[in-house]
Amino acid sequence: MKKINELHVIGENELLYESIQAQLNEEFQIHHILTPDVKKHAIHIALVLKTGLESPLDLVQIVLAEHPKAAIVFINDTQDFDLLRDLTKIGVTNYFVLPVEEEMLKESLNNLIETRLQGELGSSEVFKRGGGSVFTFYSGKGGSGKSLLSTVFAQTLKLESTAKVLYIDLNLQYGGAETFLGLESNRSIIDLIPVIHELNEHHLRNIAEKESHSGLDVLVSPRDAEMAEKIDQEFILRLMRASKRSYDFIIVDVPTWMEERVYTALEESEKIYYVMNLDTVAIRVLKNVETLYQQLGINAADRMELVINFAGKDNELTKKDIERFVSYPVASEIRRDLKGVQSLINQGVPLRKEPKEKKLIPVAKDVQKWVRYMLK
Ligand SMILES: Nc1ncnc2c1ncn2[C@@H]1O[C@H](COP(=O)(O)OP(=O)(O)OP(=O)(O)O)[C@@H](O)[C@H]1O
Ligand SMILES: [Mg+2]
Repeated sequence: MKKINELHVIGENELLYESIQAQLNEEFQIHHILTPDVKKHAIHIALVLKTGLESPLDLVQIVLAEHPKAAIVFINDTQDFDLLRDLTKIGVTNYFVLPVEEEMLKESLNNLIETRLQGELGSSEVFKRGGGSVFTFYSGKGGSGKSLLSTVFAQTLKLESTAKVLYIDLNLQYGGAETFLGLESNRSIIDLIPVIHELNEHHLRNIAEKESHSGLDVLVSPRDAEMAEKIDQEFILRLMRASKRSYDFIIVDVPTWMEERVYTALEESEKIYYVMNLDTVAIRVLKNVETLYQQLGINAADRMELVINFAGKDNELTKKDIERFVSYPVASEIRRDLKGVQSLINQGVPLRKEPKEKKLIPVAKDVQKWVRYMLK
């Protein structure tokens, strides 16, 4: 078994670098590399130095974008608690102030290497980083309400919490979100292609459209088959990882058909909200989806929750029936309200507009109940 004793140092700070050299030179192989070369190296442990030039958060994100599994140790020359908090949020494992904490740094690196080795041997567990949770709306059946409910869910979450929320429309060919959110966009996810290898919060915020009522950030789909082709599975993976580092919640709307990009989004999701109607067809489709997931190796058992849509008096089945046939928990039940929804959408008005809104149509009210419960 190969022992990892390579450290990659990123960031120009002569004093800090000398101090690291003096302390760690004997035990570790130290490579000081330039930021543009980050992608050329296999980095397991990165020591990111405080510099006078770049923002520490950007430097860390550049490393994590290329090496999502790397352990990041940030080295500063003064104590800075605000920075420490921000760094922890984006997935920095350790933080030291040199020269005061030299001894601790050495010890911590040795521990880090130890646990890394055990981790590699023990399990294939993915490193969860960045804190953000991805909730993906999926259904095996078209027209079940994924786009409507995911947009209202995201707006509600943004309006009813202080969380940073990003909405991603992965219906790359047809879109949909912009209609429900009343957005007119000239930017789209496509604009992230040139920066996908160094994607950071700044890029995401620049390209995202802001929904004016809730302030929700929205990455709009290109709505163009030819453009959509330019987005591949790796792009989606990088996009999801960067989003998790920059936002608290990422709400993703995916199309019904299964393909690699949808697969990647589902794999990166903490929760899959499966939208279905109260009828036997919906149950049959769900059973097919389960088989498909099994074939693809998507383990959804402990993260899939059902969202019952179009609930009303004349449904073929009841929620109880569903619970008898299906083992996933029901996260929410949303009433059908054709007139209410249609009239707002035709006017280009989103279903949610303000934090403490009085007159909500039934769909918005049901989503509000669900989001509030989820936030508890
Ligand atoms: N609870 C509801 N009450 C009234 N209308 C609804 C409800 N849910 C969805 N709709 C309407 O049903 C239609 C289909 O919804 P939506 O576009 O969200 O489905 P989808 O699952 O995203 O479809 P697709 O598979 O085409 O992407 C839309 O016109 C939407 O406004
Ligand atoms: Mg849709």
